Amino acid sequence: MVADVLSRMRGAGAAVTPVGYLDDNPALAGQSLLGLPVLGATVHLDTFAHDALIVAIGDNATRQHLFETLQSRGEHFVVARHPSAVVAPDVRIGLGSMICAGVVVNPGSIVGANVILNTGCTIDHHNHIDNHVHIAPGVHLGGDVSIGEGTLVGIGATVMPRRRIGDWSVVGAGALVRTDLPDGVVAVGVPARIVRNLVAEG
Ligand SMILES: CC(C)(COP(=O)(O)OP(=O)(O)OC[C@H]1O[C@@H](n2cnc3c(N)ncnc32)[C@H](O)[C@@H]1OP(=O)(O)O)[C@@H](O)C(=O)NCCC(=O)NCCS
Repeated sequence: MVADVLSRMRGAGAAVTPVGYLDDNPALAGQSLLGLPVLGATVHLDTFAHDALIVAIGDNATRQHLFETLQSRGEHFVVARHPSAVVAPDVRIGLGSMICAGVVVNPGSIVGANVILNTGCTIDHHNHIDNHVHIAPGVHLGGDVSIGEGTLVGIGATVMPRRRIGDWSVVGAGALVRTDLPDGVVAVGVPARIVRNLVAEG
């Protein structure tokens, strides 16, 4: 998906030239996808000319780990923003983030680094989306919502205006979040109820 977004950005006139993928699965080396080659494993990164990267991994903790490891090695990141996304001009988006097709981000919102705003989600005004978050396809966040670091808001969920969701939590697919949620919980249903405490589980 990241390669598709970058290619479409290039097609729309952005100064972006995707060169290929790195993947630690040796079986993928030499294969190609969307016309771009799998260049090798992440340890081979230094052998390929590049200006910037995007970590294209869905799992938030894994994506955070790789992002921070690469950042500490001095790597640079860009934002992959699909040309069909509608993002208000004052919205700040952190590096390494991916904004997919059909996303809407309204004025006053802040989107952190290494975030995924997946297909067709809507982020209303004055949201604060922290680093390493994944907002899944078709999610709707009301105005003035805050999503803590590393949290996954599952496909099709709705978060009512002014609600706060803590760090490293999971909102189940299709949930309706009516009350604030703390750090490290799994909440599902309509209305959403906490069913697991990930902090207690370690
Ligand atoms: C909430 C979630 C994380 C739970 O996953 P899990 O811990 O593996 O839980 P299980 O699938 O074993 O289900 C446990 C229970 O919760 C229920 N449940 C799971 N997901 C649910 C959901 N989204 N809404 C309501 N109930 C749900 C199950 O029916 C099951 O109930 P039971 O114990 O009465 O049988 C997962 O189901 C989910 O919704 N993930 C979001 C995925 C997503 O949107 N990813 C983004 C893709 S781009």
